[in-house]
Amino acid sequence: MSFSQLSHLECGRCGAEHDSERPQNLCVKCGSPLLARYDLDAVRSSVDPAQIAGRAPDLWRYHELLPVRNPESVTTLGEGMTPLLPLARYGERIGLPQLMIKDEGLIPTGSFKARGAAVGVSRAAELGVERLAMPTNGNAGAAWSLYGARAGLAATVVMPLDAPEITRRECVASGTDLHLVDGLISDAGRIVGELVAASDGRVFDASTLKEPYRIEGKKTMGIEIAEQLGWRMPDVILYPTGGGVGLIGIHKAMNELRELGWISGPPPRLVAVQAEGCAPIVRAFEQGESESRYWADSRTVAFGINVPKPIGDFLILRALAETSGTAITVSDAELLAELRDVAAMEGMFVCPEGAAAFAAARKLRASGWIGADERVVVLNTGAGIKYPGTVPVDAPVLPVDGHLV
Ligand SMILES: Cc1ncc(COP(=O)(O)O)c(C=O)c1O
Ligand SMILES: [Zn+2]
Repeated sequence: MSFSQLSHLECGRCGAEHDSERPQNLCVKCGSPLLARYDLDAVRSSVDPAQIAGRAPDLWRYHELLPVRNPESVTTLGEGMTPLLPLARYGERIGLPQLMIKDEGLIPTGSFKARGAAVGVSRAAELGVERLAMPTNGNAGAAWSLYGARAGLAATVVMPLDAPEITRRECVASGTDLHLVDGLISDAGRIVGELVAASDGRVFDASTLKEPYRIEGKKTMGIEIAEQLGWRMPDVILYPTGGGVGLIGIHKAMNELRELGWISGPPPRLVAVQAEGCAPIVRAFEQGESESRYWADSRTVAFGINVPKPIGDFLILRALAETSGTAITVSDAELLAELRDVAAMEGMFVCPEGAAAFAAARKLRASGWIGADERVVVLNTGAGIKYPGTVPVDAPVLPVDGHLV
């Protein structure tokens, strides 16, 4: 019985097959992202949901559907099986009594990027990679640096100056070779690309969707949602979309689970939530296009979703089309107000990206796109405490001998 049932890599655009047993980046034929494919018949005959229920509560419980071949190659900090919790009070307020949060704030490194890093780093190390490099909006760089440190992999990370400051410190603490750029993630990506090209194969490009396994870690959010709901899917899933890897991953997970026969019925409608100041996917969706165009001068406080031209745009738009989903923007003012409402009504300090998805849920309920009786899951992709600046504090300072009465 194999730990992983990975069979090969397949180009997401042209379908060309690639060998999964050596480090790979984009499709050699058309330059598009590669997707991991599994022998699902072998998965079906070797494990079932009842057996999975008895496994350890981390994402490696789905190891047959993950790319790491050898259990000894697994680098883990205990990631996965984050809570799926009802939000009764807040849900009632916005007209969605069956609203739930999948809270990725409770995961090593404080963001869902831990999932992609755990699987991506484990597989890279297994395939003999010694140094990796990546552009990041902060959280992914922090996660890959920390998981890299645990795996003994060296990392070079390039991030915008404006990225959440704590993520720089996570990189430095883990011994990563960190560089800041006075620009956007797309500028960081160009710098990393040059480094990799000049490295003669010594530096592996671990950029979003330029390596095929980060998405495999992120797809486990979709598998967990299904398992936590008793192998059923909700009606709608809202996801704050930057590079879109989480959304593409959840879509991929749903397709694999349906093919396995572990879930049935219509897929959840997927919603790509973007900020008004950076909405290439929403613009493409509204214009009926299958790819996005570069969003000039992008800006938003929800820094993780400031991605002006996602490389997997066609996969995001395909996922929305195949699930009868939609794409929607929210303003920074709306998402910051929503962040306060969720904290005050539910005691959850969500990240600004997660707050954007809550603001979108409110808007889509108000417009009628989501019905009052629908089961809705919002992905909170990270911990609010990683972004201390989202809530200003003007509490009065008392003298040391002060009193309140
Ligand atoms: C907290 C947070 N949410 C959402 C995203 C967007 O992720 P994805 O690339 O999966 O769209 C990021 C990416 O940096 C992030 O850090
Ligand atoms: Zn291709």
